[in-house]
Amino acid sequence: GNRGSLSGKHILVTAGPTHEPIDPVRYIANRSSGKQGFAIAAAAAHAGARVTLVAGPVQLPTPAGVARIDVETAREMLSAVDASLPADAAIMVAAVADWRTADAAGQKIKKDGSGQPAPLALVENPDILATLGRHALRPKLLVGFAAETQKIADHAQAKLAKKGADWIVANDVSGAPGDSVMGGDDNAVQIVSAQGIESWPCLPKQVVADKLIEKVAHALTLSAD
Ligand code: C5P
Repeated sequence: GNRGSLSGKHILVTAGPTHEPIDPVRYIANRSSGKQGFAIAAAAAHAGARVTLVAGPVQLPTPAGVARIDVETAREMLSAVDASLPADAAIMVAAVADWRTADAAGQKIKKDGSGQPAPLALVENPDILATLGRHALRPKLLVGFAAETQKIADHAQAKLAKKGADWIVANDVSGAPGDSVMGGDDNAVQIVSAQGIESWPCLPKQVVADKLIEKVAHALTLSAD
């Protein structure tokens, strides 16, 4: 619909992991189901925004009213994000791999019988959120996520400055893989900004998405010219 709180706004969302190829059959990736990012894209569309969702490899249906661009690697994600600007707000939920292989092998790497593993040279990937933070077309509202296992608020505060973001949505992923936030349907987040820290209780990811989009709409309304 076009009468929601985000009508006339373009919201850009990244979601899911990236896959960085090692060879044709192997890759490096972060754990990410894409559920929180897809829920945010759905909530933004529901609020009347035009939504671009740049999605890494995930098995999730495209939310109604959302324009989805599928990518594999961090570099592809950055290109798709860049090509999707301008946006009123960008919400970077993707768990981007920090490193990729220096050069992916064209053929499957074979064990050579020596008992020594094949060497894996890594290089750093571009930071998409930080790139947007200093972009000529920086969205008016730039939101990052931070999956932390300790000192959650401290790390999120540092990340705000480092990335040039307005808010960092921090969540605790210290639980065992698969048993907590990652892949699960619930999320407990703290929203860190220059205004301070807002802690939300553990909520279904769709509720976190709805509340976050409400907050985004409010911020965009306040900053409207
Ligand atoms: O530094 P860290 O990976 O913890 O930061 C997380 C935030 O930065 C998330 O919003 C994530 O989407 C974004 N990010 C990014 N590009 C990267 C690494 C992280 O956009 N290469």
